[in-house]
Amino acid sequence: MRSLFRSKHLISSPSNHINNLHYSPYKLGFTVRTIITTCRAVLLPRFGSADVLEVRDDVRVPDLKSNEVLVRARAVSVNPLDTRMRAGYGRSLFESLLPLILGRDVSGEVAAVGASVQTLKVGQEVFGALHPTAVRGTYADYAILSEDQLTKKPTTISHVEASAIPFAALTAWRALKSTARITKGQRVLVVGGGGAVGYSAVQLAVAAGCAVSATCESESIERLLAAGAEQALDYTSEDLEVTLKGQYNAVLDTIGIQQTERMGINLLKRGGHYMTLQGESASLTDRYGLAIGLPMATAILLKKQMQYRLSHGIEYYWTYMRTDAEGLDEIHRLTVSGRLKVPVQKTFPITQVREAHNAKDKRTIPGKVVLELD
Ligand SMILES: NC(=O)c1ccc[n+]([C@@H]2O[C@H](COP(=O)([O-])OP(=O)(O)OC[C@H]3O[C@@H](n4cnc5c(N)ncnc54)[C@H](OP(=O)(O)O)[C@@H]3O)[C@@H](O)[C@H]2O)c1
Repeated sequence: MRSLFRSKHLISSPSNHINNLHYSPYKLGFTVRTIITTCRAVLLPRFGSADVLEVRDDVRVPDLKSNEVLVRARAVSVNPLDTRMRAGYGRSLFESLLPLILGRDVSGEVAAVGASVQTLKVGQEVFGALHPTAVRGTYADYAILSEDQLTKKPTTISHVEASAIPFAALTAWRALKSTARITKGQRVLVVGGGGAVGYSAVQLAVAAGCAVSATCESESIERLLAAGAEQALDYTSEDLEVTLKGQYNAVLDTIGIQQTERMGINLLKRGGHYMTLQGESASLTDRYGLAIGLPMATAILLKKQMQYRLSHGIEYYWTYMRTDAEGLDEIHRLTVSGRLKVPVQKTFPITQVREAHNAKDKRTIPGKVVLELD
């Protein structure tokens, strides 16, 4: 099957990948048509260890819908969701859709735009992230995202640096801005501040004018203080529930185990918001199927919400990443001004995606890993 992309602008040809593509631009008056039918991508044919991942040169590129953008990917970051999906998380939703392409984040250049795309042009450098449930992910030479899932990449950062930011930062944005609606002067606690979401949350809350504390392992303390946190607390050594009880307007818990949930809730003021990233909807639907798992998850969530409202006077949420154009604008602004970063610990060529996933599975690289596509 062949895909046809029409563009008012000349597509920039990735010459070093031309052999992987059926690439054939030709002029029609003032327009240029570009036909790209297949590209290199990492396929997930079945759930399992990193060994199931397959780098293939002939993966179909679907037609662009009118609001979509074809991105020539230069760097894609590895998120915990990628390794979890690979191992079967979300199987109730994804199993019938295999083979999948993993990957949420991307940084690259616009290669073609759909008919209604207004804000982006062919050749522009962009970065962005797909929604958690997207089936065609970004581990591909050509990724497809909608216009509102992308923003211009700041010229001050590389594709590798840019690709590490959007999924994590949008997750933090969704919790702090859309759910808790944090405002200047409030006190925010990030539980697990050393990871990509936690570190982004600290920077977003600092930029919003909040007084921010974070808990983390000792290796992350200096980095969090440098990012503007007033306190970075090693949760392995401090009795936080006593010293900080009832102080916070919002708690974002990136770890979301029983112990951190209890601590987070006890540290909130009345009227505060507790948000965990470890909601149980996917795990329960994976275990019991959609028909039983989903109502079960809803019942558990409602029970907890009611229970904590009565016992502590707080609002309790399972929070999930959502693509959000307003959030992406703010992330772009903060990235340009250097106030939002996610440090990258190691890069791998996309051909070594199995090694990259193995390193994350075995926790030999604690920080952000990025796959390069040159
Ligand atoms: N619900 C959703 O939509 C959603 C979205 C995104 C992520 N998540 C989940 O949220 C959790 C966190 O995600 P993430 O992307 O932030 O994961 P991550 O970057 O892998 O971080 C996980 C933990 O690893 C440690 N770590 C990371 N980078 C480090 C570094 N450079 N040096 C030292 N330690 C480091 C941190 O521990 P310390 O904090 O203890 O220092 C951190 O909390 C994951 O479980 C993920 O699945 C959920």
